[in-house]
Amino acid sequence: MSQFTGNIAILGSGNIGISLAKGLLKASYAQAGQITLTRRNVSNLNLLAEQGFLISADNASAVAAADIVVLAVLPQQLNQLLDQIRPTVDGQKQVFISVASGVSCIDIRSKLGDEVQVIRAMPNTAIAIGQSMTCVATDNASKENVEEVVRMFETVGAVVKINEDLMTAATALCACGIAFFLRAIRAASQGGVEIGFHADDLLLQMQSHPEQEIDKVTSPKGCTIAGLNEMEHNGFSSSLIKGIKLSALQAGALYKKD
Ligand SMILES: NC(=O)c1ccc[n+]([C@@H]2O[C@H](COP(=O)([O-])OP(=O)(O)OC[C@H]3O[C@@H](n4cnc5c(N)ncnc54)[C@H](OP(=O)(O)O)[C@@H]3O)[C@@H](O)[C@H]2O)c1
Repeated sequence: MSQFTGNIAILGSGNIGISLAKGLLKASYAQAGQITLTRRNVSNLNLLAEQGFLISADNASAVAAADIVVLAVLPQQLNQLLDQIRPTVDGQKQVFISVASGVSCIDIRSKLGDEVQVIRAMPNTAIAIGQSMTCVATDNASKENVEEVVRMFETVGAVVKINEDLMTAATALCACGIAFFLRAIRAASQGGVEIGFHADDLLLQMQSHPEQEIDKVTSPKGCTIAGLNEMEHNGFSSSLIKGIKLSALQAGALYKKD
């Protein structure tokens, strides 16, 4: 795989932005020095600066130097960001990738200009370890730019090109979905503890706790926490734990039944 030779700006380096940056570096798509990470509280990015990433609070300058710009702020933070970068946007130079849920390509062009090429991408945090399923959609980007963006996300997982009107469904399944399955793992381990395992034995393979990983996926006021909490209101973890206990009970009783 050939390395990308341009510069990448990730505007809004929180959970998904940082996961993407780490994934691209790990996959050697780009060197850390080609990737600028922005957020308002830049001190929170000190560890990434130590790894060689360029750190800035100046979104407009980051865009001016970039060939690929990733918009990775929360949807409710996006308009302010777009207003800031408008003066340095060059539709001939940069391609814009938006990972913001529920924001269309047209929404972004209405702020940045009609000539701007926008590609929406819906990855998940597994991007940091090269295991994301990323859905990609656009309504105006060139074939070359789409190919480059697909190549970029393919270095950090699998990519599916979809129509933009499927993006909301892709968000619920690919991005939010990771939290639902992690909670299932957590609930299964809780069930496992109740039937006799030590928690340490059940989470051996993970370098972090499933709940820690869930925290990375649940943006404040976001769609993932809404869906996850709704599942819990309907007994998601509880039903898994009860099911595991019943299976254990049955498994232990099979011999005696005969
Ligand atoms: N988390 C996921 O699994 C996931 C998956 C797919 C898509 N997404 C989408 O990705 C976006 C980000 O989600 P997230 O979970 O990564 O949220 P997050 O952790 O809250 O990250 C957003 C970051 O944006 C920064 N920010 C806010 N305003 C800014 C500005 N004007 N300039 C520069 N940085 C700014 C914030 O830091 P400061 O407060 O320091 O500025 C924060 O670190 C959302 O639109 C979400 O829909 C998330």
